[in-house]
Amino acid sequence: MSAAVLEQGEDAFRKIFRLYRRKNPPADLSGVLEYRPGESRLRGAELCVGAVTDQDAARVGLQPLHQWSAYHVDGYPGFLFIVNPFLPGWQHRWVRQCLKRYPRKPNVCNLDLHMSLDGDLWGLSHAQLRKKSSQGRSEKTLLEKLRWVTLGLHYNWDTKKYYREHQSPFPVDLAELSRCVSLACGFQNFKAEAGILNYYRMDSSLGIHVDESELDHSSPLLSFCFGQSSIFLLGGLSRDVAPTPMMMHSGDIMVMSGASRLLYHAVPRILRHPGGGVLPPCLSVSPSSDERDALLEPCSPADWEVCESYLLSSRINMTVRRVLEEGGSFPAEGDTLHIKATQGDTYHVEDDESEGVKRVRTTVKD
Ligand code: OGA
Ligand code: MN
Repeated sequence: MSAAVLEQGEDAFRKIFRLYRRKNPPADLSGVLEYRPGESRLRGAELCVGAVTDQDAARVGLQPLHQWSAYHVDGYPGFLFIVNPFLPGWQHRWVRQCLKRYPRKPNVCNLDLHMSLDGDLWGLSHAQLRKKSSQGRSEKTLLEKLRWVTLGLHYNWDTKKYYREHQSPFPVDLAELSRCVSLACGFQNFKAEAGILNYYRMDSSLGIHVDESELDHSSPLLSFCFGQSSIFLLGGLSRDVAPTPMMMHSGDIMVMSGASRLLYHAVPRILRHPGGGVLPPCLSVSPSSDERDALLEPCSPADWEVCESYLLSSRINMTVRRVLEEGGSFPAEGDTLHIKATQGDTYHVEDDESEGVKRVRTTVKD
């Protein structure tokens, strides 16, 4: 039976998920929404251009707000898509943070149980990755086995909750990037409290899910994409609603808020950038070395060589969430919870042909 045919008991979302997940024959991508002018399902979105100064935007590598292109999609109120608003040469610094800085302690990642307490994925992988770019395939590096990192309030994959007792300082640079984006979108009270970073290889997918663990659903969920492209499926409040497939490219930002905050969504497929180059053009430029007031240090050419080698077959996504409402607190059960040290060998980005389920746990494969 073809993947496009609804199997018994299969919901409309899963049917479309399977269609785009399929490799052979590859799915027809002509119905996938691209964010560009003239696309009939899109409406230009007004941003609050006065809410962030050009200087503040530049400190985190964003263009002045009046230069951004942002869109709403018909039928999805509260969903906003910002087409790569990063300054040339600046995504490099965010990618370097995702690979070199954020996987380190006190942040939590899927490989924690495989490493010593101060395990340094970058330190253990960079020489090998740099060699790979010139010498073809060899064994996977630890960085290539990285699937998720949690920041701030650490999401617990087992209980699907956040706990007051399990948190570490949220990275200042990513909090500031999130502040700028949320202000631009008209959210004055956003606080970056939790981050989930997803690391995808070319055969990875992210299962069908709703991000409902946060206690504050009135705040937006921010999502930042780097590296290879992907198909994002945006559905409805139930899995019986067929999702809209859309393309996400490096640098793009998605904001799920209001009526779209709790919609089902998934990433069935990672795709090489359609331009034909090995990296998308926005990453093919040299890393910016501009230091004026910048919140992130420049990405050195040596570090970029490692990032570039990694990104040839990877996509990185950072999601940033507010967990608590203004003045809100955790439910009492959080007080007594003992966090189990099980996170080291679980992750929710899947690497094989299995299909997406809600926040699935899988064991790391070599
Ligand atoms: C998530 C998520 C989407 C993506 O982490 O909750 O939906 O594009 N990520 O990786
Ligand atoms: Mn999500």
